[in-house]
Amino acid sequence: MIELAPSILSADFARLGEQVRAACEGGAHVIHVDIMDGHFVPNLTIGPPVVKSLRKATDLPLDCHLMIENPDEYIPAFAEVGVNWMSVHQEACRHLNRTLNLIKSHNCRAGVVINPATPVDTLSEVLDIVDYVLVMSVNPGFGAQKFIPSTLHKMRSLATIRGQRGLAYRIEVDGGVSLETVEDVVRAGAEILVAGNAVFGSGNPKNNAEALLKAATEAALLKV
Ligand code: DX5
Ligand code: ZN
Repeated sequence: MIELAPSILSADFARLGEQVRAACEGGAHVIHVDIMDGHFVPNLTIGPPVVKSLRKATDLPLDCHLMIENPDEYIPAFAEVGVNWMSVHQEACRHLNRTLNLIKSHNCRAGVVINPATPVDTLSEVLDIVDYVLVMSVNPGFGAQKFIPSTLHKMRSLATIRGQRGLAYRIEVDGGVSLETVEDVVRAGAEILVAGNAVFGSGNPKNNAEALLKAATEAALLKV
């Protein structure tokens, strides 16, 4: 099943609750929350206090994408404010197995993320413990960037490996997902689609989410 995860990075932060509710009415399944620390990525966003308020504004699961150094220091705080899924970058974790288990110990779904330049091979030893793998299709740090097509093969490869090894992780894609690229990512195997600019960039988030989900669902039907 295809799931849409609108990223609030492109939302109006002064009207966050309202914007998230609109995306929810458009069929969003989960809300993607980008956490940036100005070190791992060259941008800053929000921390646990804002996520705590967001938690009160929606019943949808919160998918927290941690683009931060030393994620172990902050995982308990994000779990405490009600995050349901948490993902960490392979590139940011010296002890990736430990960090993923820390997320799971807080009863959150654990995800691992790879940047466009990081190969799938680097995940071989953790694929059996993650709930999802997030393939970055832009270099993380900013919304509204151009989709990098050379990342598609990593989604295909993750789908193949999952079958070969009898694993159950889900495949998420993040960056440049729009009406133009959605068919390609779904056909490559992505099942959870993060979209910031395409949902909140312009127009009505409800209509934008609906249109994106419709295009994704049609592409998934073609795939079978
Ligand atoms: C980028 C973030 C993304 C971002 C995607 O570093 O991880 O979640 O919001 O934005 P779009 O969909 O606009 O490319
Ligand atoms: Zn993200």
